[in-house]
Amino acid sequence: MINVLFVCLGNICRSPMAEALFRDLLKKENLTNKVAVDSAATSSWHIGSPPHKGTLAILKKYNISPDGLVGRQLAKEDFEKFDYIIGMDESNTKNIYEITGKPNHPKIIRLLDLTEHNKDVPDPYYTGDFEETYTLISDGCRALLEKIRIEQNIN
Ligand code: 4NP
Repeated sequence: MINVLFVCLGNICRSPMAEALFRDLLKKENLTNKVAVDSAATSSWHIGSPPHKGTLAILKKYNISPDGLVGRQLAKEDFEKFDYIIGMDESNTKNIYEITGKPNHPKIIRLLDLTEHNKDVPDPYYTGDFEETYTLISDGCRALLEKIRIEQNIN
């Protein structure tokens, strides 16, 4: 199994959105037996919490299941468990380096560096724009799946 972890600051807006979206993509591509997905926060603020209502609303709008989304914090041991650890922004990526103790490790990637956008995923907790975030995460998830297909020889 190839394990993917999406990480943001709170694990209630962006990374659970990415987890649900990527899982939906895996189902549609018949890859749930090869690739697994989870999400986590760099902070401890929302451990055990459901996603933000804005994230739940956008998932509902696009008919994507929110099942299994619950806030948890990134732990040092996650570095060994996961093959791809994907930060939503530069600050998340730096915090992942610190928590895992693996600065600049190639398995730790800022999501939109896999796309032509090459920027942070805006945090809708502050912008209020869940639609913009959804579009960018959707682009990022597609690019990530392509990268995984190539690197892991999945056709
Ligand atoms: P997220 O957004 O990192 O995309 O989940 C945030 C969620 C909560 C807070 C900040 C950002 N907060 O300050 O509680």
